[in-house]
Amino acid sequence: MIELRGLRVAFARRRSFGEVVRGQLAPSVRAVDGVDLELRRGEIVALVGESGSGKTTTGRAIVRLGPISAGQILMEGRDVTAIRGVDLRAYRRRVQIIFQDPYESLDPRRSVTDQVAEPLIVQGIGNRAERRERVDRALEEAGLRPVALYRDRYPHELSGGQRQRVAIASAMVLEPDVLVADEPVSMLDVSLRSGILRVMMDLREQRGIGILFITHDLSLAWLIADRIAVMYLGRIVEVGPAEILVRDPRHPYTKALLSVMPSPDPARRRKRAILRGETPDPSLIPAGCRFHTRCPLVFDRCHVEDPPDFELGEGRRSACWLAEGGEPLPDFPAEAPRLASASAHHASAKMTADAASAEPSLVELDRRP
Ligand SMILES: Nc1ncnc2c1ncn2[C@@H]1O[C@H](COP(=O)(O)OP(=O)(O)O)[C@@H](O)[C@H]1O
Ligand code: SF4
Ligand SMILES: [Mg+2]
Repeated sequence: MIELRGLRVAFARRRSFGEVVRGQLAPSVRAVDGVDLELRRGEIVALVGESGSGKTTTGRAIVRLGPISAGQILMEGRDVTAIRGVDLRAYRRRVQIIFQDPYESLDPRRSVTDQVAEPLIVQGIGNRAERRERVDRALEEAGLRPVALYRDRYPHELSGGQRQRVAIASAMVLEPDVLVADEPVSMLDVSLRSGILRVMMDLREQRGIGILFITHDLSLAWLIADRIAVMYLGRIVEVGPAEILVRDPRHPYTKALLSVMPSPDPARRRKRAILRGETPDPSLIPAGCRFHTRCPLVFDRCHVEDPPDFELGEGRRSACWLAEGGEPLPDFPAEAPRLASASAHHASAKMTADAASAEPSLVELDRRP
């Protein structure tokens, strides 16, 4: 339904003092650096990556809120990369976004009903009574039941989870075909997460909408998505059906993320790989393979040649030279954890903690609805 082709977003960065002195231009921040991705009707695709990998920038470009430097966005085959005016308004009706922070995304002075009705007013849909009916339906779908209890409330009277449900209702009131959900549960208490995830799974099931679910948490992605796209420094380094990608990753970055994911299998839990160093700055993307500065399997070629996407069948692809022959990845060398610097230990501990925080939802929620 939606297809990204070679999408690029670069931001200008202010020059550092040294650059000014040397008369150099500041390198641009290549936040999204050639993304190809498809989202089909009724499908949940998770876009996973560490903070700063370009997920939000991708999501904002899809809903045409952020800039696009190159590449294309197609909606049912139609190029929507540069549409404006009435075309853009019609597109926005079909493609909606919800954000991470339900405290920022709602207007504190507006009641729940006014908040959710707003997109209908902007789009000029329905009369007062019809709008009221659609608002009620959206609140109901977002799980704010009984609706009468929530209609006239204000954001400060709601919990974080309830606010996020209001945000979902405002997106769904237009009955869009696509929802971009940018870290929709990251700021919520663990106990509230599974409820919100359930709402999204139901929307997919009942409405057949396509959802791009953005998250830094691979275990959450595995829980909710049909397919997973793993992003690193602006590029999708691996994509594939969730089940297959988690069982048999073909990119070392995916494999490293998986090794810090909480696992019910104690044998796997012990084998934690540690990524060396921190994510490099997207204004200084390493030459060759962009992951080579942290990759436990790096070899000579990786320093000089950027791997293309290798198609691996079953809808999988990986941008790693080791995927070229279609073979499974070798194990990480045993000494990799000992190479880790103190900061890498810190980064890894943080990722483990982030992943572990999703654990209760693994218990509460089935993999599939
Ligand atoms: N408006 C902007 N101006 C300059 N740099 C930006 C802007 N928005 C994002 N970036 C940079 O682009 C990179 C990707 O950011 P983002 O898409 O927010 O990543 P993620 O959502 O994966 O954490 C980051 O390095 C971020 O600092
Ligand atoms: S191409 Fe080389 S550096 Fe890049 S992920 Fe593969 S093995 Fe690692
Ligand atoms: Mg983000």
